[in-house]
Amino acid sequence: VPAVVGHAILPADLDSLKAEAARCTRCGLHAGRHQAVFGNGQTASPDWMVIGEAPGDHDDQVGLPFQGAAGRLLQLIFEASGLAPHASFYYANAIKCRPRGGRVPRKEEIEACLPFLQAQIEQIQPRAILVLGWLAAEALLQEKGDIEQLRERVHTYTAPHGRIPVVVTYHPAALLLRGRHKAQVWRDMQLARQLKDSAPES
Ligand code: URA
Repeated sequence: VPAVVGHAILPADLDSLKAEAARCTRCGLHAGRHQAVFGNGQTASPDWMVIGEAPGDHDDQVGLPFQGAAGRLLQLIFEASGLAPHASFYYANAIKCRPRGGRVPRKEEIEACLPFLQAQIEQIQPRAILVLGWLAAEALLQEKGDIEQLRERVHTYTAPHGRIPVVVTYHPAALLLRGRHKAQVWRDMQLARQLKDSAPES
């Protein structure tokens, strides 16, 4: 049975959804991609679905998210803050195709890709979501706002199958670029850990 998400009809299983993303031409980004970067990790109710912005050059070549410097920093952050290795993860992006030159995705590109993200969440059914950066936060929560206003609290994403807690923090690429916000990310990871520790085991 196809899933109707955000007015778009998309396949109702993860493999077909991935195949649909691979041939998607709903926005101009398809012209510049080597391949769509759909997602990677534990697909059956992981503790965390981590949602970034868009694939970078390396991700676009390899076909997997977070293969570059931001992904390496993210792993270090998870290990240092104690979130890993005790949790399972699935990684995806708000935008599935690389914007050329690493430019910020446009509004129409974000909107075109959102049904894929929503359908992906519905298939994966993560126990919690960690959103990296303002762009993915705005797309997922449909809430405009400075990242400072979105972090340090637990949001709720309402999926067809139920409500999912959402924690928002800075994108690791922002840490790499500016080196600020480390203390904030550290606090957000503690919030994420507390959320996991307080969640009932399945
Ligand atoms: N690579 C990704 O897959 N996502 C990001 O947000 C950044 C780099």
